[in-house]
Amino acid sequence: GNEMITVEDGILKIDGYNATELAKEYGTPLYVMSESQIVKNFTRYVEAFKEYTEKTGKEFIVGYAYKANSNLAITRLLSKLGCGADVVSGGELYTAKLSNVPSEKIVFNGNCKTKDEIIMGIEANIRSFNVDSISELILINETAKEMGKVANVAFRINPNVNPKTHPKISTGLKKNKFGLDVESGIAMKAIKMAKDMENVNIVGVHCHIGSQLTDITPFIEETRKVMDFVVELKKEGIKIKDVNLGGGLGIPYDKNTEIPTQKDLANAIINTMMEYKDKIELPNLILEPGRSLVATAGVLLGKVHHIKETPVAKWIMVDAGMNDMMRPAMYDAYHEITPCIIRNENKKEVVNIAGGLCESSDVFGKDRELPKIEVNDIVAILDVGAYGISMANNYNARGRPRMILTSEKGVYIIRERETYADLLSKDIVPNYLL
Ligand code: LLP
Repeated sequence: GNEMITVEDGILKIDGYNATELAKEYGTPLYVMSESQIVKNFTRYVEAFKEYTEKTGKEFIVGYAYKANSNLAITRLLSKLGCGADVVSGGELYTAKLSNVPSEKIVFNGNCKTKDEIIMGIEANIRSFNVDSISELILINETAKEMGKVANVAFRINPNVNPKTHPKISTGLKKNKFGLDVESGIAMKAIKMAKDMENVNIVGVHCHIGSQLTDITPFIEETRKVMDFVVELKKEGIKIKDVNLGGGLGIPYDKNTEIPTQKDLANAIINTMMEYKDKIELPNLILEPGRSLVATAGVLLGKVHHIKETPVAKWIMVDAGMNDMMRPAMYDAYHEITPCIIRNENKKEVVNIAGGLCESSDVFGKDRELPKIEVNDIVAILDVGAYGISMANNYNARGRPRMILTSEKGVYIIRERETYADLLSKDIVPNYLL
């Protein structure tokens, strides 16, 4: 959960800092990221999977999925802790390099890598391109050949496993666009093709079945599908060095639901991997968590500017909006919301909390039972550290918010608020309109 949040005498604090004061000092809307929480989340992965290395002598690598939040301070913090990177674009690869992530801890995902991105990845000598199609494999081989290099490739398989999550964030079903189908033999065909190519080096099998998984069983199913395939490959004389099981561990957005921990995940994956120890030499294990590393560490603070009553509801209007954090509008996602001054825990009222954009879907929470909120109060939207700022946009000509980091050393601005001038900085008016 959100271990960095405490409430003392009705005052909400983040890493010990009074949230209302932070909002006053740094302005709203404001993203607050907690260093202590990120460190905890990362360390739990390392601790939980230590056993894999102890049992097998093989590596365990966490490649943080940059898409969750690619702010440079966050990626540097994780890199400093020893975390690798899962990148899905030239921009993310650029960020990983600026974050000093060693090349052997960078993997490149995505279903439409461009030639320019492939060149960048080969130049960076990354651990693997996770190949999503035969077409991509051919382009990687050709590009590496032109460069006089050999590219490391892993193959993203589509295992047809139901992750039991929101349809918009499930990826490992036959109907999804991702991966090479195993059942029909396409995945095997691709790897056999790669075996005959001179400029690719087969290193791994990759899989990712979806995000915000709240049940361990799909991970076990996924691990089996991947490992069964690795056994098939051995029969063909192809040795797999790395198995990458993707990301996907969920977080408790709703504080009443129980979510498996990193330890639960580790137990399930390690036990399943061990079932194969007599069949093959076990591979290095890579995971690419995004959400479970940073989501709980982030809070979005918005200031209440207006309160309005309609015949059917009471609306709390805040200056944060769907452009800052689009998960509720896009996925009907639930995020816990709380005022930062809790006046009376026992006297609650039912309210809707909305942003100020001209869209009916710009609502952060409906029918929430909250302590009394007044104009000028600060409201906190929790668990926004992942897929918050990274999916923010400028809709309604709103600058993206400032982001600060709370750490033991103090409070730091880690992303500046966009100005009106920033908003127009890429627009060009043709001469005849000047
Ligand atoms: N690896 C691959 C190949 C992925 O596609 C993803 C996420 C991850 C790793 C990281 O998954 P995580 O550990 O964060 O679940 N915008 C959506 C989430 C989209 C996830 C896309 N892929 C949301 O806000 O819920």
